[in-house]
Amino acid sequence: MIPNPEDKEKLYQLCLQQVREVVRGETDFIAVLSSVTCVLKTNLPHAYWVGFYRVDPNKGNELVVGPYQGTFGCLRIPFGKGVCGLCAEKELPVIVPDVEDFTDHIACDSRSRSEIVLPVYDQQDRLIAVLDLDSTELDAWADEDCEGLENVLTAIKGNL
Ligand code: SME
Repeated sequence: MIPNPEDKEKLYQLCLQQVREVVRGETDFIAVLSSVTCVLKTNLPHAYWVGFYRVDPNKGNELVVGPYQGTFGCLRIPFGKGVCGLCAEKELPVIVPDVEDFTDHIACDSRSRSEIVLPVYDQQDRLIAVLDLDSTELDAWADEDCEGLENVLTAIKGNL
């Protein structure tokens, strides 16, 4: 079920409130990212897979999965590959309404039909990860999602 724009706005307000409460004072980034994953997966009915691909500090130009909730995610994605790699390379949010129209899409799960990916920054404005949400429905992601997720990521920036 894809919520209408008004309902999405309410859901993201709820997510923001829960994330703020749960991460207050927490500086362990796995604890923070896990909590965000849990809050989004629990509250967003159109999210089938929710998780982070972190920039591997040992490689610099490769993403490594986790934390996430959902079915198996591919473990590593080079910058520039797939939707996540494109987001990491360009440092811009990417919305893919139909993954079949995105030639470079990496299909970890064939049930995934549409996808949104956003860059994640720490306090020093360094790119540390991307946040990836997949839906089993086509065209599940819109500007409200992008805005709602950006607000959540801004809320945790001081913890990272
Ligand atoms: N589809 C993504 C890969 C990650 S999974 O969807 C969990 C991509 O093309 O980057």
